[in-house]
Amino acid sequence: MLDFCLFGAGRIGKVHAPNIAGHPKARLKCVVDPDLDAAQALAEPLGAKALATGEAALADDSIGAVLICGPTTTHIDQTEAAANAGKAIFCEKPIGLDIERVERCIEVVTKTGVPFYLGFDMRFDPSFREVRDAVLADAIGHVEQIIIVGRDPVPPPIAYVEQSGGIFRDSMIHSIDLVRWILEEDPSEAFAMGECLIDPAIGRAGDVDSVMLMLRTPSGTICTLSNARHAPQGAEGSFGAQFFGSKGLLRVGTAYPTATEGFDANGPLAKRDFPGFQQRFADAYRHELDHFVNAVIDGTPMETGLEDGRRSLLIADAATESAQQRQPVTIRY
Ligand SMILES: NC(=O)c1ccc[n+]([C@@H]2O[C@H](COP(=O)([O-])OP(=O)(O)OC[C@H]3O[C@@H](n4cnc5c(N)ncnc54)[C@H](O)[C@@H]3O)[C@@H](O)[C@H]2O)c1
Repeated sequence: MLDFCLFGAGRIGKVHAPNIAGHPKARLKCVVDPDLDAAQALAEPLGAKALATGEAALADDSIGAVLICGPTTTHIDQTEAAANAGKAIFCEKPIGLDIERVERCIEVVTKTGVPFYLGFDMRFDPSFREVRDAVLADAIGHVEQIIIVGRDPVPPPIAYVEQSGGIFRDSMIHSIDLVRWILEEDPSEAFAMGECLIDPAIGRAGDVDSVMLMLRTPSGTICTLSNARHAPQGAEGSFGAQFFGSKGLLRVGTAYPTATEGFDANGPLAKRDFPGFQQRFADAYRHELDHFVNAVIDGTPMETGLEDGRRSLLIADAATESAQQRQPVTIRY
């Protein structure tokens, strides 16, 4: 059994905590959140302890793993503390927001040798995994164009936006990672545009809420990634992707909450149930936790790691700079 301490009882903590508690080889021992009410509300129904700070949990030898999912600004300090305490680490994306600080954190974790997994859950979405397998098996030939869309139903709270590092580092980083993972190639050039069209408060927080990013890879694949902080149309078109190659096309539909479509005499039945990423990627969150637990117990490699975090952040940094400068940016690793 692998005993966990989870840091952060927010939106994504509420997804991970029951997944840990329900895993046959894992136990949720404690939930750490400075908002003790939030920690209690999550921990107690799952039989875990609520704590306002993490020191006691990190000093507890019975705890083998941490799942770090507080605000992005807390990830690096908690990752370094957990690594120095010898815990296996599951850290939500991104590792951090400052590349030099991320690189120092990578040195610390690497030195301790603890297992580290970065939460790029979309790699565990069955549809995207099918795409990667097909691309690697040459089912569509050389991938010429990729389009990936990610639109959340409603914007996150402004307090979240302020600590997020901006929409490219916070949200689009998932699609950036998918491109790297599916192509097994790192983009070399970024050209991005961003606007604040949805909520002026997001603009006042220094961010944009509607973005498109073009990436070019050394072998000539051109990608368009699109993210928005709202989706007034509902589920349709909120998430999706196309992979267009020299021999064919792979398409990932919204499949949200299921791929079933309904019709009556008046036409399509509206899919009104559209709560967010938690439901669309529910399987992916379960699969990634299962992967992490088994990799720690069996001592096998993690699907994502520190270098994926560094490279995806460099691409998101280039996108942010491109949107601000209004010109293409060469990406250097
Ligand atoms: N993989 C995904 O699909 C996904 C989805 C959403 C968020 N995230 C990532 O997860 C992280 C959290 O996002 P969220 O949406 O849950 O945020 P949130 O704002 O909903 O929740 C954050 C929680 O962390 C708590 N917190 C603050 N400081 C803390 C500390 N020092 N230690 C422990 N907890 C602390 C807050 O009180 C709050 O309860 C972010 O890094 C975000 O990028 C990933």
